[in-house]
Amino acid sequence: MTLLKGRVAVVTGGAQGLGLAIAETFVAHGAEVMLADLNLEAAEHEAQRLGAAACRCDVTDEDGMSALVDDTVRRFGALDIMVNNAGITRDKTMRKMTSEDFRTVLDVHVYGAWLGTRAAGAVMREQGRGSIITMSSIAGKVGNFGQTNYSAAKAGMVGLTKAAAKELAGSGVRVNAIQPGLIRTAMTEAMPQRAWDSKLAEIPMNRAGEPSEVASVALFLASDMSSYLTGTVMEVTGGRYM
Ligand SMILES: NC(=O)c1ccc[n+]([C@@H]2O[C@H](COP(=O)([O-])OP(=O)(O)OC[C@H]3O[C@@H](n4cnc5c(N)ncnc54)[C@H](O)[C@@H]3O)[C@@H](O)[C@H]2O)c1
Repeated sequence: MTLLKGRVAVVTGGAQGLGLAIAETFVAHGAEVMLADLNLEAAEHEAQRLGAAACRCDVTDEDGMSALVDDTVRRFGALDIMVNNAGITRDKTMRKMTSEDFRTVLDVHVYGAWLGTRAAGAVMREQGRGSIITMSSIAGKVGNFGQTNYSAAKAGMVGLTKAAAKELAGSGVRVNAIQPGLIRTAMTEAMPQRAWDSKLAEIPMNRAGEPSEVASVALFLASDMSSYLTGTVMEVTGGRYM
């Protein structure tokens, strides 16, 4: 369990769900981890449990993102792994979705991931190494009913990942995305049972995924195990929409 020994990671949206599972896995593999979340109380609680650090961060705040990266480097001496994971949903069909619902979701996912990639990429470029992981979704590949905002955002994150991968590859920095399918977290447990059941029916492996099953893919992308991978999109879906 030493794949990330001596590495320093930031996980946005790290207070719960997929971000927390990723942080747990990274700590178990020897990394120093900063949990960055809007919800400071939960982030601090989990950080204490894991032996990690925590801070309040809104990924859509440019100065806040710079401060997060600077503070992490000051505290731990480097930044090797950035996980752009923070996310929200504002699901509605277009008949009911407001411009604010659309813009807010794009802001958190696309602009937030861009700010994180830019700030982390600047440090990693100087270090000559680093791995940036962006949490997209299978919604960005296939588009989900009632999620024009979220699907556009998650597809946008793929374009961002590939373009950033090209800009940073020459400096030894890799940028990859994960597209989870249906994973059991607070975000998906808030779905109506009917929506959950219809998604489940589309999954060849016939079950939802666990957060730890996304975390192990993030571990692979963060570690030197994936040293020749950049600009890729890994689908973690139990075969859904293959
Ligand atoms: N759960 C799934 O099935 C699934 C599937 C595909 C993709 N995803 C993506 O994975 C990521 C994590 O999802 P989850 O299911 O763990 O969600 P979650 O709602 O359980 O956790 C999201 C976390 O992000 C934080 N957050 C929200 N807005 C923020 C902001 N502006 N700045 C900082 N932190 C913020 C929240 O406080 C929360 O702790 C999201 O990007 C989501 O879109 C999840």
